[in-house]
Amino acid sequence: MAEILKRGWKFLIVSTLVFITVLLLFNVQINPYLDNRQNVLVSNVINVAASKRLTSSYVTEGPIFNENTYQKKNVSAFCAGVDIYGKPQLTSVVHSRIDATKLDPTTPGLLYVYVSTYTKRNVSKTSGGDVINMIANEVNGDGKITAFVFDHNNGKYSGVFQVPWTGKTAVRVKVLSFVENACLRLKSMEKYGNQVFTMQSGWGIRGKFVTSRGLTEFTPCGANDYIFGYPNQCNFTSVNANESWFCGQPRHSLINCRDIYSFGTGPFESKAAGPSEKVALPNSAALKSSVTANSPKSTEARDRIPCNERPPRYSWTELGQFPNGYWARNQWRMYNCSSSLVHSVKSYRNCLQNKTVYFLGDSTVRQYAEYFINTLLGYNVKNFKDMVGSGRQYHSKQIYKNFGINVTYIKHAMPFHNPDFPPTGITSLPMEIERLSNSDIPDKALILVVNYHVHFQAYPVDIFRGRVRSLAQSLSIFLQAKPTASVLFKGFHACSDDTRWFDNKLTLIFRGIVKEEFGELKDRVVYLDTWSITAAHDSLALHPAGNAFTSQIQQFLTYVC
Ligand SMILES: *[C@@H]1O[C@H](CO)[C@@H](O)[C@H](O)[C@H]1NC(C)=O
Ligand SMILES: *[C@@H]1O[C@H](CO)[C@@H](O)[C@H](O)[C@H]1NC(C)=O
Ligand SMILES: *[C@@H]1O[C@H](CO)[C@@H](O)[C@H](O)[C@H]1NC(C)=O
Ligand SMILES: *[C@@H]1O[C@H](CO)[C@@H](O)[C@H](O)[C@H]1NC(C)=O
Ligand SMILES: *[C@@H]1O[C@H](CO)[C@@H](O)[C@H](O)[C@H]1NC(C)=O
Ligand SMILES: *[C@@H]1O[C@H](CO)[C@@H](O)[C@H](O)[C@H]1NC(C)=O
Ligand SMILES: *[C@@H]1O[C@H](CO)[C@@H](O)[C@H](O)[C@H]1NC(C)=O
Repeated sequence: MAEILKRGWKFLIVSTLVFITVLLLFNVQINPYLDNRQNVLVSNVINVAASKRLTSSYVTEGPIFNENTYQKKNVSAFCAGVDIYGKPQLTSVVHSRIDATKLDPTTPGLLYVYVSTYTKRNVSKTSGGDVINMIANEVNGDGKITAFVFDHNNGKYSGVFQVPWTGKTAVRVKVLSFVENACLRLKSMEKYGNQVFTMQSGWGIRGKFVTSRGLTEFTPCGANDYIFGYPNQCNFTSVNANESWFCGQPRHSLINCRDIYSFGTGPFESKAAGPSEKVALPNSAALKSSVTANSPKSTEARDRIPCNERPPRYSWTELGQFPNGYWARNQWRMYNCSSSLVHSVKSYRNCLQNKTVYFLGDSTVRQYAEYFINTLLGYNVKNFKDMVGSGRQYHSKQIYKNFGINVTYIKHAMPFHNPDFPPTGITSLPMEIERLSNSDIPDKALILVVNYHVHFQAYPVDIFRGRVRSLAQSLSIFLQAKPTASVLFKGFHACSDDTRWFDNKLTLIFRGIVKEEFGELKDRVVYLDTWSITAAHDSLALHPAGNAFTSQIQQFLTYVC
């Protein structure tokens, strides 16, 4: 805005005319982005949609800053009383401590842990809101498990572990998200349309525009139409398979929206936000205090259903209660269901014979695909991350086949943080899922693993809800067409990175939204609780590795095989 006032009315009139011209040109130019193949997909989608009386499934985002949105209602409730700027109440991991541990006298194997939080001035806290992880490790073995943690909202947190082993147990506590940081991020979404403004060095998705004369400009992009610092936006929603997507309109008068060349991640101008609007680092930290306790053996006889026969809804009701499983004797073991699966490449291949597996989502789902393609199918593909289709298409959609198993990975539409993706041939997860509804692949053969996660955390929360809602609609239609197919939602894992925009409190908010939006689908779709895994392994990497990743594969195949 300041930009315009400086340059005066002449600029305003000229830029308005340019903008109108751009809009007209852009409308004419937009169709080349939709190639023939995509048009076929689109007509399939429309047919399915019409037959199921689905209306406006793809354009789902309403006004973001409306009073009735999550962004307004829940954020102001969550942030009430939180001093986000001076952060005088920030939890100190030096002073906060484990007060006591206690064994449950009536239910053997239950271990309670009580934590009190203190500020950096060593003042006892009287409010909660942090995300706390409690981790128990078997001292004389490799056992690891996370607790169910209860926030008393008065500075105290209690955790309960169902310890599955006997003997010495070490307990550690970690703050996975500080309430001040989570609020700053939520407020920044409203003020700037994007929470990368809370980062020390902004980092986000930019549009790269290149003209035929070689002029180049980068502008910031976002999933909502409010691009801070840019009075006008290029609306790339129709390029993005009708999922909302915008970039600032280039400032250079000779560069137009139709000159878009790619969407890629890079430095983001975030100086507009002052030092007090930046999150406190580190984003997560371990309490200095730790304890050891003695765990007696659990005598509780549990009547457990085989995991692959259990109603999918149980995988959702467990969430926010006890963890889904634990690590012991070199394996992820499910807590509330049984499995006789031998975890080996050979048994996985046997189980998956004649199956077509689709991995649809972000790079954390791509990790599963990489394991399948390289380890199970025996390929040696290294460059999944940057893979695009021929002729500068956004997706590769390559099908990998071996041992009678077909595997495909398809990334979700923008926002997708990546070095550089062409804006051509973008399809969305709902489009891909509805294409599969219409395919002649027998339903018994189909396994779908889907997710959305960190790529949406930069933007107002309701953007995520809109995406999840249309995903859920497409999955309902899919399950009507393919009733015996297996569908799994790859759930939210704990992750933290001081140079990025993700936050574990936002992750839990997202989890709540998926639970709400999936409604009746919870009877048909299994939730893969990767939070239990990453929390137990104390793995906060964006891409879990080592035993944490092995656990994810074991958990997934325990549900499928
Ligand atoms: C913090 O306060 C507690 C009492 O609440 C005290 O026991 C402890 O020594 C204090 N820590 C420091 C570093 O002063
Ligand atoms: C952006 O374009 C989409 C589809 O072309 C349209 O539905 C939407 O209203 C547009 N949004 C804005 C803010 O112009
Ligand atoms: C996007 O929406 C428009 C208007 O509803 C529709 O004509 C077009 O086919 C849709 N495109 C895709 C890729 O779904
Ligand atoms: C655990 O499984 C039993 C059935 O085996 C079920 O009744 C119970 O609700 C499950 N608990 C959770 C938290 O899902
Ligand atoms: C896979 O399909 C082949 C050919 O139809 C069949 O012979 C084989 O028994 C099938 N395997 C499984 C595990 O269903
Ligand atoms: C794998 O895909 C091919 C077509 O590409 C198809 O002929 C075959 O039946 C598929 N196999 C399975 C197990 O779905
Ligand atoms: C938002 O707040 C309402 C009550 O104000 C609550 O019922 C709902 O569960 C909250 N949603 C999420 C995702 O936390």
